[in-house]
Amino acid sequence: MQANPASFSTTRLRVLRVLRVDASARGEGSITRQLADLLLSELDERAPGLSVARRDLAAGLPFVDAAWVGANLAEPDMRDADQRQALSLSDELVAELSVADVLVIATPIYNFGVPASLKAWVDQVARARLTFRYTEHGPQGLLTGKKAYVLVATGGTEVGSAIDFATPWLKFVLGFLGITDVEVIAADRGMLRGDAARQSAVGHIARVLDRDWPALAEAV
Ligand SMILES: Cc1cc2nc3c(=O)[nH]c(=O)nc-3n(C[C@H](O)[C@H](O)[C@H](O)COP(=O)(O)O)c2cc1C
Repeated sequence: MQANPASFSTTRLRVLRVLRVDASARGEGSITRQLADLLLSELDERAPGLSVARRDLAAGLPFVDAAWVGANLAEPDMRDADQRQALSLSDELVAELSVADVLVIATPIYNFGVPASLKAWVDQVARARLTFRYTEHGPQGLLTGKKAYVLVATGGTEVGSAIDFATPWLKFVLGFLGITDVEVIAADRGMLRGDAARQSAVGHIARVLDRDWPALAEAV
């Protein structure tokens, strides 16, 4: 008897898909990039063959403009070629976020908030109909079932303190999009704590992956 090809696809394990977003303007010497490298290599040890998409925001991203807003408001079926073009980068960013099982955002705090490039990325991926929608019960995030790790470094600002406007906002806006399982891993106050700041984040990464890994593996 011939095997039913469909039965193979149902038993095949899917690889874990990760989207890594880097927001530091620095390459060399960036603490958040080092932490993301470490998290990804620890994850790869647990899930060999991990699929990693990378979005590096160091060179910036276009801000939303009038053409973008108009195109986004138009009914998708009614968009003309210019409107489709205005949304093409946003469509690409939404697609790579939508398929990710795990989101890793590596970001410094700049002037008490997130870097402008990361705000621009959020503006590009927050799309009515695609990543959130309004219902009679209020807004509903559509990117459910994902795990997010936010790796954050600061010079003097204590993450979670009253002057940290970056991590509460990031958690809120990710939740608005349906990503509610967010772990913040901080290498904060590096100017005061020196390498101890980075080391505490390194320890935190090992602990959360030991804790999260079985559930992440079952999710795919
Ligand atoms: C433009 C700019 C603004 C910054 N603003 C802050 C700030 O508001 N609070 C803070 O604690 N550190 C601030 N820093 C320090 C960075 O958060 C810190 O150096 C961090 O390690 C940078 O991340 P990276 O090492 O991944 O590049 C700022 C750095 C830059 C370049």
